[in-house]
Amino acid sequence: MKADRDRMPKHVAIIMDGNGRWAKSKGVPRLMGHRAGMEAMKRIVDYSDKLGIKYLTVYAFSTENWKRSVEEVSGIFKLLVTFVNRDLRELIDNNVKVKVLGDYSAIPDDSRKALEKTLKDTERNTGLQFNIALNYGGRDEITRSTQRIAKMAAEGRINPEDVTEETIGKYLWTGAEYADAPDPELIIRTSGEVRLSNFLLWQGAYSEIVISDVLWPDFDEEEYERCIAEYQSRDRRFGGR
Ligand code: IPE
Ligand code: IPE
Ligand code: MG
Repeated sequence: MKADRDRMPKHVAIIMDGNGRWAKSKGVPRLMGHRAGMEAMKRIVDYSDKLGIKYLTVYAFSTENWKRSVEEVSGIFKLLVTFVNRDLRELIDNNVKVKVLGDYSAIPDDSRKALEKTLKDTERNTGLQFNIALNYGGRDEITRSTQRIAKMAAEGRINPEDVTEETIGKYLWTGAEYADAPDPELIIRTSGEVRLSNFLLWQGAYSEIVISDVLWPDFDEEEYERCIAEYQSRDRRFGGR
């Protein structure tokens, strides 16, 4: 099923889930699932660009994922660096601009440095904006935004009555101050799970949610098109009638 090229969402966000189950089904270690997941991510970045999507946000590591074993957590970050280092040249050539949503100061040093280099080397690019949600939590970012606004109010730089939805949105990771991305029209979750798991709670207020039963490492261009076509078949009412 092909998606209508003339009605592409501007911003697609993806909860890349199912790496562990994919590994289990193949009888291989979980990290092999994460490795295959990175390849899927690469495919989808490339294809998003081809489809003319302007913003792609992927959920790579949540504020809750620290609960996993040290081996799994450090393995995930190592893989991410591998991806970033291996594909950086290509991202630059393809005019992709990379942003990280989340406080990545908490991740291991080498991973952080590799990421910082990528952010810097792609910052002038004007094509697809690829946001990697890393150590990201929806509640965490709303809390951070609230803290900043409370501080400004305490310092007399903003009146509480002047705090609007725009003010709160501005200090989120997707806000004008940082990634500057519109709300996603579409949130895809793979592996058949039907929940948000703390992803884009504020920005997803009116997003269409499409669930794919495919485990993330098997997610391909065809399934991506099917998800977009499903989104295009929805009737978006935004509270109107
Ligand atoms: C998603 O796959 C990747 C991360 C959360 C980092 P999972 O590792 O959650 O895979 P399942 O849900 O156990 O299959
Ligand atoms: C959500 O998946 C986080 C990422 C995909 C990075 P999880 O696998 O961590 O979510 P739960 O635990 O099933 O809700
Ligand atoms: Mg999972």
